[in-house]
Amino acid sequence: MASRGLLVELLLPSAALLVVLLLSAGLTDAQGLKAGFYKNTCPGAEKIVLEEITKALSVAPTLRGPLVRLHFHDCFVNGCDGSVLLNGTKSSPAEKDALPNLSLRGFAVIDRVKAKLEKACPGVVSCADILAVAARDAVALSKGPSYPVLTGRRDSRRSVSNDTNGSLPPPFLSITQLHTLFASKGLSAKDHVVLSGAHTLGTANCAAFSPRIFNFTGRGDADPALDKNYVAKLKTKCKGISDQTTLAEMDPGSFLTFDSSYYKLVLKRRTLFGTDDALLRDATAKALVQRFADNQSEFFKEFGVSMVNMGNFQVLTGTRGEIRKHCALVN
Ligand code: HEM
Ligand SMILES: *[C@@H]1O[C@H](CO)[C@@H](O)[C@H](O)[C@H]1NC(C)=O
Ligand SMILES: *[C@@H]1O[C@H](CO)[C@@H](O)[C@H](O)[C@H]1NC(C)=O
Ligand SMILES: *[C@@H]1O[C@H](CO)[C@@H](O)[C@H](O)[C@H]1NC(C)=O
Ligand SMILES: *[C@@H]1O[C@H](CO)[C@@H](O)[C@H](O)[C@H]1NC(C)=O
Ligand SMILES: *[C@@H]1O[C@H](CO)[C@@H](O)[C@H](O)[C@H]1NC(C)=O
Ligand SMILES: *[C@@H]1O[C@H](CO)[C@@H](O)[C@H](O)[C@H]1NC(C)=O
Repeated sequence: MASRGLLVELLLPSAALLVVLLLSAGLTDAQGLKAGFYKNTCPGAEKIVLEEITKALSVAPTLRGPLVRLHFHDCFVNGCDGSVLLNGTKSSPAEKDALPNLSLRGFAVIDRVKAKLEKACPGVVSCADILAVAARDAVALSKGPSYPVLTGRRDSRRSVSNDTNGSLPPPFLSITQLHTLFASKGLSAKDHVVLSGAHTLGTANCAAFSPRIFNFTGRGDADPALDKNYVAKLKTKCKGISDQTTLAEMDPGSFLTFDSSYYKLVLKRRTLFGTDDALLRDATAKALVQRFADNQSEFFKEFGVSMVNMGNFQVLTGTRGEIRKHCALVN
């Protein structure tokens, strides 16, 4: 009997430990996200997304950047819950009505993907997951890396314009402020450097960086941290400090190609935002910038890891939230 008691005593703690281990494994696995979540419920889901994104990008190649940015803006405001896609109303403006949205694009593409998925498997695939998969595909279709995306997110029923306040980084934050903001989204200082490399794709409105080239300290000057030749080039591109319509390529010459040239530009001080330049103001960040500039494979390997980390932030799983029928509307 004594031995049996001992056995129970020995088993109990290990059983408890096992439960704890299983629970924590479940939790660290982004609260239930996994690769191939729709394998049984909608086997063609990721293939349908890829087909639609491929079609969309062949017609409108400049949507590569915007499709990546949508997932970022979704995740940073109340988690990756599809809230960025919801339409607001006059009395209740949504995230997409907030100031930093000004330039978000790609909503119609996401709506088309969703319509295809609703036909194939009604009410199964969330809009939040479509954003994560579409971002991965847009990167891969731009000659960037591909990576297994985790799925199983559900959609929120809330999208409030003011929620973007303090959650999305304005382009003049310091490296310390950026670290704090990314940490508040569960992302490391390394994730911050890696994800900033997404600025290898896409364009920015002159208005987003014009104070930096036309009137940095209020004396008609440019940010002294910038390469002077680059400032001159940007000034010929943007028509003055209040130009609201011109777009500038963030990675001139290869803004449709996902590569590590962003980091080379950072080192040459040829960037649009103070937040890009801020990567040089921290020894660890700067070393990573140098490493990615020197070795694109290294950047590609890390990018998938950091995108998955970003995609884990505050997701709704299980029975929380809903699977929207239309990405712009709650059910
Ligand atoms: C580190 C802080 C960041 C700041 C301050 C920032 C700021 C900006 C700004 C101001 C624009 C230009 C918007 C416009 O005027 O059109 C932009 C564009 C873009 N951002 Fe970021 N961003 C940051 C991080 C990220 C991250 C983490 C991602 C994705 C992983 C990302 C992806 C993009 C893309 C792809 C574009 C181009 C969009 C287009 O082509 O329309 N950014 N960003
Ligand atoms: C959402 O808003 C956009 C822009 O205002 C509009 O074009 C679109 O039709 C709306 N979508 C739905 C489903 O109401
Ligand atoms: C972004 O917000 C502005 C200002 O509130 C609004 O006029 C615009 O329609 C919004 N853009 C999108 C794509 O919803
Ligand atoms: C959003 O914030 C502004 C300024 O702080 C405030 O005037 C407005 O009432 C807020 N709107 C909502 C819906 O909370
Ligand atoms: C954003 O939040 C800050 C601090 O909570 C507040 O001071 C500011 O008025 C808010 N702005 C808007 C537009 O809501
Ligand atoms: C530059 O900034 C100063 C100080 O804020 C302002 O007085 C001046 O009008 C600005 N110049 C332009 C061209 O916007
Ligand atoms: C570049 O990075 C890859 C992936 O981490 C690595 O296998 C390779 O050895 C690196 N190349 C150089 C020249 O350091």
